[in-house]
Amino acid sequence: MTPAARLFRTKPAERLVAEGGAGEGGELRRTMSLWQLTLFSVGATLGTGIFVILGQAVPKAGPAVVLSFVLAAVTALLSALSYAELAGTIPVSGSSYSYAYATLGELVAWVCGWCLMLEYAVSVAAVAVGWGEYLNAFLRALGGDGLPAAITRSPGQDGGVVNLTAVVVVALATWLLLRGASESARANALFVLVKVAVLLFFCVVAFTAFRSGNLAPFAPLGVAGVGAAASQVFFSYIGFDAASTAGEEAGDPRRDLPRAIILSLAVVTAVYVLVAVAAVGARPWTEFDPGASEASLSAIAVQATGAAWPGLVVAAGAAVAIASVVLTVMYGQTRILFAMSRDGLVPRVFQRVDPRRQVPVANTLIVAGFVSALAGLVPLGQLAEATSIGTLFAFALVNVGVLVLRRRRPDLRRGFRVPLYPLTPVLGAAMCVLVMAGLSRPTWVAFGSWMLAGLACYFLYGYRHSRLNAGPPG
Ligand code: ALA
Repeated sequence: MTPAARLFRTKPAERLVAEGGAGEGGELRRTMSLWQLTLFSVGATLGTGIFVILGQAVPKAGPAVVLSFVLAAVTALLSALSYAELAGTIPVSGSSYSYAYATLGELVAWVCGWCLMLEYAVSVAAVAVGWGEYLNAFLRALGGDGLPAAITRSPGQDGGVVNLTAVVVVALATWLLLRGASESARANALFVLVKVAVLLFFCVVAFTAFRSGNLAPFAPLGVAGVGAAASQVFFSYIGFDAASTAGEEAGDPRRDLPRAIILSLAVVTAVYVLVAVAAVGARPWTEFDPGASEASLSAIAVQATGAAWPGLVVAAGAAVAIASVVLTVMYGQTRILFAMSRDGLVPRVFQRVDPRRQVPVANTLIVAGFVSALAGLVPLGQLAEATSIGTLFAFALVNVGVLVLRRRRPDLRRGFRVPLYPLTPVLGAAMCVLVMAGLSRPTWVAFGSWMLAGLACYFLYGYRHSRLNAGPPG
């Protein structure tokens, strides 16, 4: 086989599934139910975005930001349907990385896995960085001074030295992850219930200050404004695919993964649209301030009631929301690396499973160390913004993967099929490209540099250690 052909060699779907669950030293445990998988995806999705993004998105779209949330949800849904089909066909832990391996070959799979590191490890660091601010919003609402900026902000942020609060939230999530997938899922379920309850509380509070006059003019900046805000709020939908990293710990993955992905997106969309309507109904759109650093929802809650305590509740909800994003997204990163390690593309240490706890302990600790260092010490800047591009790129590949797999392997058992094939995946891929095009130039430059670093890693390590290429040609 020529070196070029090796780059595009695919791994048969059957082999991916047959190897599922097994790591070095032990196996992962199949314990997660549909309910837990759905809450896992909701946990990874519903996070910082909704608590702050309105401050930036409303000035772009006006009250029509509600439509921006719907538009972003449609973009997410098209890809979610493709995720659902592939997760129900190849129910392993590598998410889009594994799907790309089965359909587009090793090099594309690697590129996808590298993009997933932006979606998971880098984004989780960026999310953890904000935790100190929410903790402080909460402490100040309680009447205290809050923690000093030196330990709640990262270097490069105003007054930041080491972001210790980010390290603390990562350590808490690591502790839960090491206790086991099922224990993590249970803790996450509790976190999700709290954050959804807090957002519903926000809606009730904001609706008491609802003025229909605040909704006029509805779209002062026209269709372009709605589109620009949609690209921005897309961030708040990232994470619905998290259930697809739990393929090897789900009780009935072929049936439950597709359902969990679609259900979670439905829940999240309903909550977002409700929150957006409540927020723009309670506050004139011209008063949303993109420069305000504090959680915009808690400010609206305080303004709507004239009392401080609703702000306290919302700030507490935001702190819990972030903790649950950190937990679930870090989980996803460990399982993607687990799958990549089994294929030989990253070192073997990532697939070692602790026989007693049935979790990849070393893998989890390495990911936690990396995320803590990133969040605590590195000014992430443009790299954090590049997470949306990386995610969209992975989503686009999943849509293409559906098209390729239907053509090449129509015989495979599928737990779910996208409706209106091939229109849905074609539109899904097109929408991803469209939203990517709307992101800024520096973000593209950061993304390009990240990809070059990824290709260097592949040729220096993955290409030489690939297990598929070590085996017989086929
Ligand atoms: N969707 C996640 C959030 O909004 C990334 O925090």
